[in-house]
Amino acid sequence: MLSYQHAFHAGNLADLHKHALLAWMLDYLTAKPKPLTYMETHSGRGLYDLGGDAARKTGEAEAGITRALAEGWLPQGHPLLRALEVVRSFYGPDAYPGSPLIAEALLRQDDSLHLAELHPTEIAALEHVVLFSKLHHQDGFAMANALCPPTPRRGMLLIDPSFEVKADYESLPPFIAKIAKKWNVGIIALWYPLLLDGRHGPMMHALQERFPEALRHEVHFRPAREGHGMIGSGMFVVNPPYGIEAETARLDKIFAPL
Ligand SMILES: C[S@@+](CC[C@H](N)C(=O)[O-])C[C@H]1O[C@@H](n2cnc3c(N)ncnc32)[C@H](O)[C@@H]1O
Repeated sequence: MLSYQHAFHAGNLADLHKHALLAWMLDYLTAKPKPLTYMETHSGRGLYDLGGDAARKTGEAEAGITRALAEGWLPQGHPLLRALEVVRSFYGPDAYPGSPLIAEALLRQDDSLHLAELHPTEIAALEHVVLFSKLHHQDGFAMANALCPPTPRRGMLLIDPSFEVKADYESLPPFIAKIAKKWNVGIIALWYPLLLDGRHGPMMHALQERFPEALRHEVHFRPAREGHGMIGSGMFVVNPPYGIEAETARLDKIFAPL
C-alpha cells in the first residue's frame, strides 16, 4: 500500500532544507546538558547510498547535498555537516543520513529517541543502522499520540509524511493541535512540499489560523524533472527555538538563486 521510497529523493534540495533546520534545532536543544526527547512519526530507513541505483536514477542528490558540499553552501561546523561527517566516517563518502541518523549523530545516549516507521522494509533497514533509538513499527501519528507528553518533557517531534495519503492534508492541522495541547512545551516541526497545484494551501491556512505564532519557512526551487509538481520545501514549527531566524535567513540566501 505504501509505495513512496525516500531512497530516490534522499539528499535532494527538500532534504537539504529540512535537514539543515532539523540539525540546527537539535544542536540548539543540546546546548543545555539536560536530557531531551526526540520523536519522529515518519522515519524512513535512516541511511541512504547516493552512489546507488535509486539516487543515480533521479539525480536529485547531485543537485542537492552533493552540489551544496562542492560549492560550500553551508558554513564549516554547521550541525548538518557535522552529522554528515559522523555518518560518512562509518559508511563511506556516498552515505547520506536520513533524519534518524542526523538525530543520533547530534544527540546524546541519555536522550530519549522514538522513531516510528510503518513500511516493513524501511523499518528493517532502520533497525540495522540505529544505535540507541527505540523503534516503533506502527503508524507514527498513533505513536506520537500515545507518547505525548513524553519524558523528558524538553524536546521535539518531527512529522515528515510522504503525503501519499491525501487525507494527511486534512488530518494534520487537528493532529498537531492535539499534540500541542498535550505537550505545550514541545517543538513540533512539520515538513511539507510546496506543490504547483497548491494542494498544501488549505492545510497551511488551517495551521496558521491555529498557530499564529509558529514559524513558517519556505524555500523555492525548480522542479526536479519536467512535469514534477514539487516546486519548493516548507517547514512549519510550533514553539520554534529562539534564534532560528538566523538559520532561516541563511537558507533564504542559499535557495534564492535556485
Ligand atoms: C519522507 S519519508 C521519511 C524521510 C525521513 N524523515 C528523513 O528525513 O530521512 C516518509 C516515510 O514515512 C513512512 N510512512 C508512511 N506513512 C506512515 C505512517 N502512517 N506511519 C509511519 N510511517 C509512515 C514511509 O514508509 C516513508 O518511509
